This record gives sequence, C-alpha cells and structure tokens, in this order.
Amino acid sequence: MAIRTAVIPAAGMGTRFLPATKAVPKELMPIFDTPAIQLVMDEAIGAGATRIVIVTSPNKPAIEQYVKPSPEVVKRVRDTGRNELADRLERIGKDVEVVFAMQNEPRGLGHAVSCARDQVGKEPFTLLLPDELMGGPALLQQMVEMCEREKKSVVGLKQVPMSEVSSYGVVTTTATPTSNGEVTVTGVVEKPQPDESPSDLILIGRYVLMPEMFDLLAGLAPAASGEIQLTDALLLGANERNVLGVVSDIARFDTGTPLGWLKAVIEFARQREDVAPALDAWLLSLLK
Ligand code: G1P
Repeated sequence: MAIRTAVIPAAGMGTRFLPATKAVPKELMPIFDTPAIQLVMDEAIGAGATRIVIVTSPNKPAIEQYVKPSPEVVKRVRDTGRNELADRLERIGKDVEVVFAMQNEPRGLGHAVSCARDQVGKEPFTLLLPDELMGGPALLQQMVEMCEREKKSVVGLKQVPMSEVSSYGVVTTTATPTSNGEVTVTGVVEKPQPDESPSDLILIGRYVLMPEMFDLLAGLAPAASGEIQLTDALLLGANERNVLGVVSDIARFDTGTPLGWLKAVIEFARQREDVAPALDAWLLSLLK
C-alpha cells in the first residue's frame, strides 16, 4: 500500500491578504523567493508522492501556470548556479504528475478534499494545507510510514500555547505519546475557545487519510455556514479509533495571516547562507 498521491487544497480566496491576492493567489506568494506551493510540493515529494492533486478554483489560473513544465525557466535557474532548485522545479510535471480538481465555491476544507475524490481513487493519500510550512518532510514521512503500518488515518499534531488554540482544530488522545510521538486520537473539535478547549494539541495541516474518509465526508451535513469541515469527518473516524496522530516538534510556520507569512519569509531567508549575514546585520540594526 504505497501512498503515492498528495492533495493540496488551493482554492481559497485569500481574503486576509487583500489587496495582494487580487492578482496573485495566496499559494504563489513567495516565501523569500519561492512560492509556498512549491515548498509544500517539495515536502509531499519528500514523503514519497509521485502524483499531486491541486484543488483550485477557476479564478486562479496562475497556479496552473506555475506548475506547467518550463524547460526554459529550469535552464535559466540552472544557469545562475542554483542546481538544487532547478532539480526541484524540473521534477514537477516530469517525475511527478500534477493534476487539478476544481472547487467552484468556497465550502470549507472538507468540501475541498471531497473535490479531489475522483482524482485520488480508492487509495490512502497525504493532504497538505499550503498555509502551513514545515521545516522539512520528516514528519510527513513518519506519518506515511505509520499509515502504511497501521492502515489507519494519521494526523500531524503539535502542542501550542492555549492562547493559540482558537485558530485550529484541537484533538484529545489516549495516554501519553510513545517515544516517537505516536498517539490514538479520541476526539477532535474545530477552533475551540481556550477556556473550552479539551487540550493544547492542534492539527497542523498535515494528514494521511484512508480513502474511507471520503465516505465520511460525503455523509456530513453542511454546517450553518454551508461549509463542510474535515474536522467533523475526523471526529467520526476518531470515534471508531481509526485516527492516529504524531505529536511533533518540527519547525512550523503558519502563513495564514500576513504577520505569520512575514515571519516565515524572514526565517526561510535566515536559512539561506547567501542571505543570512546581511539580513541578520540589518535586523540587529533595526532593533538597536
Ligand atoms: C484548517 C483546519 C484546522 C487546522 C488548520 C491548520 O483551518 O480546519 O483544523 O488546525 O487548518 O492550519 P483553517 O486554517 O483553514 O481555518
């Protein structure tokens, strides 16, 4: 049961990033010089994906433009000596097939995932929310291995300060995690207030889902807002003890708000040897 398909939902309207998102899809906004969606595709590929389903909307043609193979762009990047980046760009559409599923109306994350059903088929798949960036593919690799071993869905989890839980899905789990962070999820609630939150363990936008999750999503009634929440389907799975989790301390950036995005840009730039010295000196001079 090799897990070969990754789903990336990218149909959101980017309201929090207006006016930038009037012309540029949120997923293409650069994290320093590389669009978030490229970083997320690299992570998916690092965890074994050979097929990527991007769920997008007809109003965002630039995403299709970005993933279209362009030997000319790859050559220009290679000519500047950035071979590793050129390799990453080159494999999209060559070693890794990219297909699109359309979400014509904004009806929530659960609905976006459902839109990928035909493209995914009856196989487990990874799901990566491009608002969330990870330090690398290690967590998703571990989750994929766990799903292959246990034949259950697996969610990525992280402990955060209680003041942050209201922006996320929050889980409860059985017992304490194993030494490598593995738990069984017993409950999930979407965006609770801190004083009502059952824990400080949040869903960080990385999932490995069994195909049965599509059936659970199909059976959900929309919330009052008309949205279908992935969290509700996860809760149904958790009730049957069919959802596992990995509690991780991986570096993570939530770029869902302009400030979060700016922090990610600075952190990613500081990891670049060619940029960090000048950037650090400037940051220090700002803070003097
Ligand atoms: C979504 C999910 C939420 C999860 C979060 C991670 O929320 O609904 O459970 O914790 O992504 O970023 P959104 O950020 O789309 O509001």
